[in-house]
Amino acid sequence: MYNTLLTELANNIFTITINRPDKLNALNKIVMEELDAAITEVYNNDEIKSAIITGAGQKSFVAGADISEFIGLSVEQGKALAKKGQDIFFKIENAPKPIIACVNGFALGGGCELAMSCHFRIASENAKFGQPEVNLGIMPGYGGTQRLTQLIGKGRALELLMSGNMIDANTALQYGLVNYVVSQEELLNKAKSILEIINSKAPIGVANCIKAANAVFGSKVSDTSKVSDTYPYSFALEVELFGNCFATEDMKEGTSAFLEKRKTNFKGR
Ligand code: COA
Repeated sequence: MYNTLLTELANNIFTITINRPDKLNALNKIVMEELDAAITEVYNNDEIKSAIITGAGQKSFVAGADISEFIGLSVEQGKALAKKGQDIFFKIENAPKPIIACVNGFALGGGCELAMSCHFRIASENAKFGQPEVNLGIMPGYGGTQRLTQLIGKGRALELLMSGNMIDANTALQYGLVNYVVSQEELLNKAKSILEIINSKAPIGVANCIKAANAVFGSKVSDTSKVSDTYPYSFALEVELFGNCFATEDMKEGTSAFLEKRKTNFKGR
């Protein structure tokens, strides 16, 4: 049914596996469209009580947005890209059923942002987290500046955002970014055992826990068709700032350096 996702529904748990392992499951346009459709399934299919998002293979959860799609984007296109990503991730965050991330390797850039939009995260021992956008002359645009700050606090978040450094699974555990670190083999089973407990509870109570917890951070969205009208100003600011990066020489330098596998030479303009 999907080209870039594998899906499985068993015991009322819908497992969505992002399946582009040769590109470390990077989020290109098709993956994002299909992820959006798979999340719509979570909302609409009564047989689905909860969901897991993971990545194919043992190396990477998601190594970010697909950098090759950044080339030649205008400021307006950059903003539209960020806005679309934010909307899909809001849809995950505001889902009326639990969606948890099983982080099976690299969760970088959009991958870390995707994991953070889930209701909580479980990592395998080899998982690595980071927001390396500054290496590319840009910044996070799918909610990373917001949710990383919410989850691990401003000081730790700004260190990661500004340095582009990665942290390992145990540091992520210590920071509260993930709830558990388990072996690669145990990862899905750990998630499923927690979801089976949640699935046995009253669905309306569970949905309302999500709604109320999200409201702590100013997200008032209950109807995803209205996401763009109601989401908090600071997310809109991230869209603006992300888009503005696309007018810079440094963005062109950073993205081409990655694709050409060479070091960057940033000029500050
Ligand atoms: N977008 C597009 N392609 C990506 C990608 C991304 N975010 N991340 C990895 N890939 C591709 C690589 O270009 C490479 O493709 P190729 O085999 O056609 O050359 C393939 O996936 C494997 O990646 P590679 O870099 O060779 O693996 P590695 O083990 O040497 O390094 C990473 C792994 C994760 C450290 C490295 O791929 C990386 O830094 N990725 C980008 C992370 C990032 O900046 N994300 C934020 C994007 S906004």
